Amino acid sequence: MSERRGINSTDAVDAGEDRAQAFDALPMPIVQTSTYSFADSAEIAAYTSGHHPNADRGEYGRYGNPTVRAVERRLAALEGTEDAVLFSSGMAAVTTSVLSLVKGGQHIVLFQDCYRMTLEFVTDVLERFGVTHTLVPAGDVAALAGAIRPETRLVMSESPTNPYLSCVDLAGVAAACKGRRTAKSMIDATFATPVNCLPASFGIDLVVHSATKYLAGHNDVLAGVVCGPTGLISMIRDLRGVLGAVCDPHAAFLVGRGMKTLSLRVERQNATALALAQRLEKHPRIERVFYPGLPSHPSHAVARAQMRGFGGVVSFIVKGGLAGGTGVVDKVKLARIGPSFGGCESLIEQPAVMSYYEMTTEQRQAIGIADGLVRLAVGIEDTADLIADIEQALSS
Ligand SMILES: Cc1ncc(COP(=O)(O)O)c(C=O)c1O
Repeated sequence: MSERRGINSTDAVDAGEDRAQAFDALPMPIVQTSTYSFADSAEIAAYTSGHHPNADRGEYGRYGNPTVRAVERRLAALEGTEDAVLFSSGMAAVTTSVLSLVKGGQHIVLFQDCYRMTLEFVTDVLERFGVTHTLVPAGDVAALAGAIRPETRLVMSESPTNPYLSCVDLAGVAAACKGRRTAKSMIDATFATPVNCLPASFGIDLVVHSATKYLAGHNDVLAGVVCGPTGLISMIRDLRGVLGAVCDPHAAFLVGRGMKTLSLRVERQNATALALAQRLEKHPRIERVFYPGLPSHPSHAVARAQMRGFGGVVSFIVKGGLAGGTGVVDKVKLARIGPSFGGCESLIEQPAVMSYYEMTTEQRQAIGIADGLVRLAVGIEDTADLIADIEQALSS
């Protein structure tokens, strides 16, 4: 195993695509079918015994599709894993993967600042089925290692996290799990992208992405993926066939098409976000900037050691609380107001009025969401235009 900090962009263009299967078309066609036919019973026997000459042929759409499979292969090539399995959304990838690894009586360790719906799934839904959990502070690998019990089956984190962009020492997480043998490690690397970080190369077992974000990259499709070793991925794939959260072939095509420009987009987004973060850090109306590429970020050393770039999201606290943040968000002209990130269009949001609107200031403070916090997810617009826009919003 050798630690790698980012992909070879050639793989993002066409790894895993089979020209012959694609009728010699350049992009993999959308194989829009719900089922597949067989010539005769002998062909069914060859297929069911695993001896069919076309390893990718399908039986029924919920179990597989050639367009989806081509994208899965490319994702595995990018992440440097043996296999990958695509889902209808990032949450479908998270929930199906977790369900395939744990059962009642077992235990999960996860970082406190995981994506809200991932937290809700573990702390609320799984709790009802007798799966217990321990939450540990963001990025605290020692606390995580200490929380692992004999019945722990899974350790989960994001890196970077939302919205403060904390990064976790991936080799540390992998070592803590491998020391216990029964616990698998899973990293949601949606904010990092394989351009910036390859968790499997640090020994992480499963790498998850909301492909809705950077992988697809155009704010026009929902999808998710989990990448890992063949044994784990085929177990997760089998459960996908039961739970049914399959990726539609057209959605898979859009993910695959988006991935061809992944490196170009993410490199631009890295550069813009870093320039913006540096500028914001000096602005008198800004209380604090969170960007792992800044030396002032608590995770900077960890991020520098394991990332090639620091991603396209910058979070910052505007002075003046709720009104201070709202004043800036409402004055920005280029970035649209909305949740999500990773697309070509910049998006801005104030978590206190969007994802955490139903809480009081005190409740938000208790979970670390400042009222004046703003999250800017940069797109691929001109860097100078984005900086000028945020500066005019801050000065008005
Ligand atoms: C880090 C992270 N993981 C998972 C998800 C869920 O992905 P999806 O919206 O594709 O279900 C999100 C959504 O925002 C996310 O930010």
